[in-house]
Amino acid sequence: MKSAQVSGTEGYAEEAEELFELYESISAADSHRAVLHLIPTAPGLILDIGSGTGRDAAWFAAMGHRVVAVEPTDAFRLPAMALHPSPRIEWLDDSLPDLALLLARGERFDVVMLTAVWMHLDAQQRRRAMPNVASLVREGGAVIMEIRHGPVPAGRRMFEVSPEETIELAQTQGLHPVLNLRTESSQDQNRVAGVTWTSLAFVKGKNERPPPKRKR
Ligand SMILES: C[S@@+](CC[C@H](N)C(=O)[O-])C[C@H]1O[C@@H](n2cnc3c(N)ncnc32)[C@H](O)[C@@H]1O
Repeated sequence: MKSAQVSGTEGYAEEAEELFELYESISAADSHRAVLHLIPTAPGLILDIGSGTGRDAAWFAAMGHRVVAVEPTDAFRLPAMALHPSPRIEWLDDSLPDLALLLARGERFDVVMLTAVWMHLDAQQRRRAMPNVASLVREGGAVIMEIRHGPVPAGRRMFEVSPEETIELAQTQGLHPVLNLRTESSQDQNRVAGVTWTSLAFVKGKNERPPPKRKR
């Protein structure tokens, strides 16, 4: 049992069983179609922060990548380890904004994924987290984020985070935007409720053109 709840994880443990089923029913390939070109084709090292059920970690592992899956909610991480027992996945109980365990290891990743997690941090935590995230990606590597907008599910801690703020924060850490895409939710109920998503991608240390602003 942990001494204190990790800020951002509120509401997840209580609903873990049904959320586990829901998240596992989503296709990793479909949700990351817009950023596939940023995933190395040769076996690489991928960091998935807020890895939930391990769906994406398992998908990356099946492609031949080594994955570090960071998930502070025991009620996700423990069943995720049982469901996706891959020798290519290392599971870590660590959390944003500090990522203390991870940073102490001094590793650099080809890709850092933050899928549906950044909006769980408040403004101060986002400012603290960005330098840590940026320091975990190698030169030329990518940071990929999916940020949820709209109504907040009961019991969760979530903030409205603009792509502009996130891009500005990332740029101060040498992360150059290469994608800024707004989409509707793929889940019927959420779409009707007005949930939308921003997909953002950044490349470290490379001067790219400004991101195309597209609607899908
Ligand atoms: C909406 S779920 C997304 C899970 C997974 N990335 C996916 O796309 O299916 C958000 C996840 O972020 C995790 N989370 C919340 N606050 C966090 C924090 N401060 N640091 C790391 N992970 C956090 C939650 O425990 C939960 O697993």
